[in-house]
Amino acid sequence: SCASTSGGDGGSADGGGDGTITVGFAQTGSESGWRSANTESMKAAFSQENGFDLVFNAADNDPAAQIAAVRDFINQGVDAIVIAPIVEDGWDDVLQEAADAGIPVILEDRTVTASDDLYSTWVGLDFKREGEIAGEWAAENYGDTPTKMVVLEGTTGSAPANDRAEGFDAAISGTQIEKIDSQTGDFTRDGGKTVMEGFIQKYGIDGIDLLYAHNDDMALGAIEAIEAAGGVPGEDIAIISIDAVHDGMQALVDGKINFIVECNPLLGEQAADLVKKVLDGESVDKAYYVEDQSFTQEQAAEVIDSRAY
Ligand code: AHR
Repeated sequence: SCASTSGGDGGSADGGGDGTITVGFAQTGSESGWRSANTESMKAAFSQENGFDLVFNAADNDPAAQIAAVRDFINQGVDAIVIAPIVEDGWDDVLQEAADAGIPVILEDRTVTASDDLYSTWVGLDFKREGEIAGEWAAENYGDTPTKMVVLEGTTGSAPANDRAEGFDAAISGTQIEKIDSQTGDFTRDGGKTVMEGFIQKYGIDGIDLLYAHNDDMALGAIEAIEAAGGVPGEDIAIISIDAVHDGMQALVDGKINFIVECNPLLGEQAADLVKKVLDGESVDKAYYVEDQSFTQEQAAEVIDSRAY
């Protein structure tokens, strides 16, 4: 791949002059299986053998801690900064500080509301489209009969939570699917389990027909809650989620989830390639979208053994 050449050939993408590009990467945290796969992909691509010295920070999903980590990178004088922004808002000041220090910022995975003048480029997934695909499947399969739906939202204020809600809601509008409740489970298994327990207490297993979870981990937590309450996930309560990580795909094959929209976490090589291009002064687009697929139970059974994460 393009990210496999060493930085020691005298190319200009070598801030320190010793052949290595120092990159500060501000990761969200380690909330989900998706995040683990993304971190692994980033660490593999920003490896020493690819010419990088990676300074890794995971902010445990605390937006203030993530901004502080980016400020540290600026003070350290890294060559470039890569951010997977926890939330969309609040980035203007620190991005301006990076710009003032002449340090390019490359975003991966999540987006920000700040002006795109304040960063070089972004690579990730079309979260709104993911929500739409999930909603279209829901509309097709449940839209013609009265269906009571609960939603497990991702981290409040994050791009995937905002966009997946928007895309889904647009796709089910005008159908008989009724959203009876929606709360954040913070993209974690524990969060999904706890919030689902609350939903079950409030509405009963019989009072919920459909669950839309903004990621697989929350769906997996909800499955535990449904089973503990004596319900059959995938039957008593149909489940739609997003990511297609291994445990999610297994639950889909096992009939406990009904439909999954993929969110590809393997963004490392493209991010590393973009960092080199930006430091070399090559022109890049403001946004690079990676393709997603979606899977029914039958389709999941066919592909599960050949998946990379
Ligand atoms: O930003 C991508 C989302 O973050 C994934 O869907 C979720 O699992 C992760 O925590």
